[in-house]
Amino acid sequence: MAAPSSDTLVFFGATGDLAYKQIFPSLQGLIREGFNIPIIGVSLDGSLDKLKERARDSLEHHGDLDQDAFQKLIELLRAVQGDYNDPATYQKLRQELGNAERPLHYLAIHPSMFVKVAEGLAESGCAANARVVLEKPFGRDLASAQELNKILHQYFPEESIYRIDHYLGKEPVQNILYTRFANPIFEPIWNRHYVRSIQITMAEDFGVEDRGKFYDEAGAIRDVVQNHMLQILASLTMAPHTGDDLESIRDEKARLFKAITPLAPGDVVRGQFDGYLSVPGVSHGSTVETFVAVKVAIDNWRWAGVPIFIRCGKQLPFTSTEVMVEFKRPPRETFGEIVPVLSSHMRIRISPDITISMGLRVKKPGERMAGQDVELTFVRQAADDMPPYQRLLGDAMRGSAELFARQDSVELQWRVVDGILGNVTPLYAYEPKTWGPAEAYQLIGKRGPWINPRPPESKP
Ligand code: BG6
Repeated sequence: MAAPSSDTLVFFGATGDLAYKQIFPSLQGLIREGFNIPIIGVSLDGSLDKLKERARDSLEHHGDLDQDAFQKLIELLRAVQGDYNDPATYQKLRQELGNAERPLHYLAIHPSMFVKVAEGLAESGCAANARVVLEKPFGRDLASAQELNKILHQYFPEESIYRIDHYLGKEPVQNILYTRFANPIFEPIWNRHYVRSIQITMAEDFGVEDRGKFYDEAGAIRDVVQNHMLQILASLTMAPHTGDDLESIRDEKARLFKAITPLAPGDVVRGQFDGYLSVPGVSHGSTVETFVAVKVAIDNWRWAGVPIFIRCGKQLPFTSTEVMVEFKRPPRETFGEIVPVLSSHMRIRISPDITISMGLRVKKPGERMAGQDVELTFVRQAADDMPPYQRLLGDAMRGSAELFARQDSVELQWRVVDGILGNVTPLYAYEPKTWGPAEAYQLIGKRGPWINPRPPESKP
């Protein structure tokens, strides 16, 4: 039986950055889809007029202002103003909720406030029958994530908790799973017998701009490896799910996370771009990484022995995320030429556009049995039509949890990175607009080279 839809959407952090960049545009999109429920924005300083103004501004800068949908959004919008530490704020919210029976509370706020707000919701009666959506980061390490889960479970059952990792709502990430399991030709080769290595590179050409304070509390491992990168890896390497209950995908993912060997200091290279220390909000002498390269091992029958390399960084040469699955070379040089290591591969581009291609070695025209590398592109399409936040918020309101991180997975993901958090490894400087510190090349060594994603404008 389908879960009942939420009948009111409450979002905390209504004047914040996330609301401005993602939530208002997603709300407009949801209204276009037909959602028609009260929307309550909670913040310290957002009067209703201010929220309306902010919504318009947000849509002009981060969406495409659709007058009809915007008008509807304004009609549905309510505001609750107050300090999250003050019980009176939740009383005001309780009143504003009126007859709502199944509210959804979206906590688009600093994670240090999650517990306070969850408590406030519970004590005021706003948590009854409610769903709660939490922004990442969920915890700072394994112990704090476990503690947070424990506290949240006092107020909300697990099936009412929706932990966002917006990569799960991305079309290309869903396409990895879809393409793998909709084409049985991949399954026989998708394992240690045919795959020589896997690389994932997430390159961003910008720094941390106005997020200095937030980023300095996180660093690349917490910010994108523990969540986005491991989710991509899980979609690439998990076993096909069976059964048609909605939990089966999440069950298989959890099994995969469990099989990843926890990272040790020898598996990681951290870097910081020159200039990071002068970003406003960054602490004096900070040793937080803005680049990280890690070597991951999955200890199961499918993947044992296949090296997996993940690399992410700010201030790299351009913005693009790509996955490279490298297939094994022939067992001997049949035609007397050395087949290059990367000739045979599958390349999956996740941003800025979506591409799935396959690389092969074919014969060069002519008398000699000599080859050339070619790449066949199966699909190339513009990035998502539907922004990930719109898809995820819609799913949460409909009570569909498949694209959200479950408690066991979040904790298993923290278990993978727990041993490399903080200053347990050296920090190397790198020049902005380069591919990170030279030490990252030593990490990949003979299993390399690193394959840089193609620049955004390049055609396959
Ligand atoms: C966020 C990180 O979760 O993801 C950012 O906090 C990062 O640092 C962003 O830039 C990348 O998301 P996307 O969708 O632009 O690839």
